[in-house]
Amino acid sequence: MNKIVTIERHILEKQKKYPGATGVFTNLLYDMALAAKLISREILRAGLIDILGAAGEENVYGEQQQKLDVFADETIFKLNDHTGRLCAMASEEHEDIIQIPPHFDSGKYILLYDPLDGSSNIDVDAPVGTIFAIHRKITEGPHGTMTDMLQSGRSLAAAGYVIYGSSTIMVYSTGQGVHGFTLDRTVGEFFLSHDNIRIPATPTYYSCNPGYEKYWTPGVRRYHKWLQGIEGEGRKPLGQRYIGTMVADFHRNLLKGGIYFYPGDLQNPAKPQGKLRLMFEAQAMAFLVEQAGGYASDGLGNILDIRPHDLHQRVPMFIGNRELVEQAEQYIQQYDQEWCDAYRPIRDRQPMFTP
Ligand code: AHG
Ligand code: MN
Ligand code: MN
Repeated sequence: MNKIVTIERHILEKQKKYPGATGVFTNLLYDMALAAKLISREILRAGLIDILGAAGEENVYGEQQQKLDVFADETIFKLNDHTGRLCAMASEEHEDIIQIPPHFDSGKYILLYDPLDGSSNIDVDAPVGTIFAIHRKITEGPHGTMTDMLQSGRSLAAAGYVIYGSSTIMVYSTGQGVHGFTLDRTVGEFFLSHDNIRIPATPTYYSCNPGYEKYWTPGVRRYHKWLQGIEGEGRKPLGQRYIGTMVADFHRNLLKGGIYFYPGDLQNPAKPQGKLRLMFEAQAMAFLVEQAGGYASDGLGNILDIRPHDLHQRVPMFIGNRELVEQAEQYIQQYDQEWCDAYRPIRDRQPMFTP
């Protein structure tokens, strides 16, 4: 019989490598695993107990919120508000920082999360996900502040995601490789199934929404043709796969090799920065891909180096095999000067908040 490694055992064994570790961080990851189990159960039951459909509220982006978004959001908050491990949280579904209720202890970590990624897929039984990122508190004082939130991806203490697909899998990294655990529903436990994931050197797929090609910049359009083997040196075409849940598209490309991209949009001059959220989606995935040997760029440079200025800022994203992402950067540099000039000042904006 092979060694049986639960997520708890794995986290504890990693912790042993840090003599000063208090276990706080270990428990924090375990709380996320528990949240994942509860969300997974609710997703499975969703079709049966008529909780599908919009909750009748709009989130901070003006998008219709689904009931499962609310459930996932509240579950993650409730499992983490009282533990004394966090000093604040932020969720894609809330405009402001979520403070720890005053009657609970405050801790030394910050949690940022996208409770349900790919929520438009809920009604059609396609995979959805959860994304989380953990930063250390860097300011003095008992409460988490915007300064603690708006750290660059380079400073991440940990990040991960959960994919609720044909299996529920939790993938995380604390900066020592990327590890995946599959939920065994019969015993309610996550077991190590993907140890030390490395993105394969030979890519298989590319993922984007070509329905919006009309809005893409000339460089991105050419790059798309390059992926298809039409433009450039005539490479062997990659297969195209797109679910519309970044977690699921990323997970596939992480295991099979490839690239996911959601570019900036020049047709909408008010929004040249694409759709994905830097703090709730892009940073975590950029951290994971780098740990797995890949690369994530906004077209100009490494997403992990972007200094955030707004909790809800958006960012163009090219993520996957380094060679494919660097090729995208080259096309953008060569053909998209107009877009670069529009986007760069947004990227380099100074934070507008009182720390
Ligand atoms: P969310 O459901 O958290 O709002 O995120 C959806 C995101 C991302 O996961 C996905 O890849 C992308 O939106 C899909 O957007 P399009 O429908 O525009 O392709
Ligand atoms: Mn999302
Ligand atoms: Mn979401």
